[in-house]
Amino acid sequence: MAPTAELNEEVFTNAKPYSQVPGPKPIPILGNTWRMVPVIGQFDISEFAKVTKMFMEKYGRIVRLGGLIGRPDLLFVYDADEIERMYRREGPTPFRPAMPCLVKYKSEVRKDFFGELPGVVGVHGEQWRRFGSKVRRPILQPQTVKKYVTPIELVTLDFIKYMEDARDEHGDLPAEFDNDIHRIGRVALDVRLGCLSSRLSSASDPQRIIDAAKYALRNVAVLELKAPYWRYFPTPLWTKYVNNMNFFVELCSKYINEALERLKTKKVTSENDLSLLERVLKSEGDPKIATIMALDLILVGIDTISMAVCSILYQASLRLKQQDKMAEEIKRVFPDPDKPITYADLDKLHYTKAFVREVFRMYSTVIGNGRTLQEDDVICGYHIPKGVQVVFPTIVTGNMEQFVSDPEEFKPERWLESDGRLHSFASLPYGFGARICLGRRFADLEIQVLLAKVSYAI
Ligand code: HEM
Repeated sequence: MAPTAELNEEVFTNAKPYSQVPGPKPIPILGNTWRMVPVIGQFDISEFAKVTKMFMEKYGRIVRLGGLIGRPDLLFVYDADEIERMYRREGPTPFRPAMPCLVKYKSEVRKDFFGELPGVVGVHGEQWRRFGSKVRRPILQPQTVKKYVTPIELVTLDFIKYMEDARDEHGDLPAEFDNDIHRIGRVALDVRLGCLSSRLSSASDPQRIIDAAKYALRNVAVLELKAPYWRYFPTPLWTKYVNNMNFFVELCSKYINEALERLKTKKVTSENDLSLLERVLKSEGDPKIATIMALDLILVGIDTISMAVCSILYQASLRLKQQDKMAEEIKRVFPDPDKPITYADLDKLHYTKAFVREVFRMYSTVIGNGRTLQEDDVICGYHIPKGVQVVFPTIVTGNMEQFVSDPEEFKPERWLESDGRLHSFASLPYGFGARICLGRRFADLEIQVLLAKVSYAI
């Protein structure tokens, strides 16, 4: 079907029934959840990327994982044309079925705090649209992002120093290298959290933030697929999750109140003098909107950017030819390493950006994206009922011969010259459409500044 094709009655009549979609068969009572249980289960939840690939190899381009306790079926779609069609046809309030535990936390456990405008992450429909309309413009405006070039450059220099100090006698970085979130804190909370300052004790604020952020995101899959019993009674894992989230809310409120105090005495002549947080505080006049925005940004921004940076640096370290090419470009665009980086110059790093894009394609640190169907659809010839959660596994589709020429070859040039196949919906690291990643400009900025600075350090 063409991406914009109408779904008429004939298409539905000719479609095969949902029950015929291939996939692992649920067993009575235990459904398919048992497959995620340690020892007896076949699927290791921490290896979900491999499971996703295995599904495609075993069952084909559409796979149904049904019989999951307390949740709708998952439908994996490995067809970039179908993914494009679904993204392009989605309405004004796309439904991304992420983090039901966060939904419960925001809408039930802490409804007192989140109320009617609980943010964008784990929020859907009209509430999502209304909150987004308040924060999307200030977050995405190039003027806002530009303001962070220098602060991020300064933090990056400290980060490079941290990396240099952390290396062992072979020059290798420690296994806990991703233990760093300060740059996101810089954007979302308007302060440096001090995560790089020295060896952190486990009780220090920055270390607790790092632990809480990792915990919140990394336990979502476990709470969701492996141990979903919190839906029926408060399990120990659930209680820990709630306490962890409460800590986050407390922390964000503390920093937002401090920012509010600073704003009272700050001299402001134009909007350009304001940070992201200050812009939202000023335009909305409600500190809660700013607190919830910061909470959302930290919650989904920390692990994603940390993992992406680790993956990009690791791939650069393995690929000396491409590393040299990047360094050559960076030194041409920034001939004087002591001169502050500008946003306009970063835009000239074409090869460097293509390198990052290629890392995202081959080694995406995000397994995929997804949407809950808000109406019946026909996908890969099957009639799929409303409510099913469709998964777009970008980590698999970005590596499929059908959509990308020579997918096993690491070739940044493919993003610069149009030779060969490169389906634009096969690899979408930041998602697509109205719900696309809100932090993507900050993520790109942090990655580019880091690569520019690292090139001079090595
Ligand atoms: C390389 C790093 C990152 C990757 C790969 C990534 C990827 C994604 C993806 C795939 C989505 C879902 C998009 C969709 O549904 O179409 C998303 C949503 C989101 N991301 Fe990111 N992200 C990254 C970094 C960040 C950062 C640094 C922040 C915050 C500063 C952030 C904030 C958000 C928010 C708030 C949403 C929810 C948007 C909404 O539902 O309206 N992300 N991200």
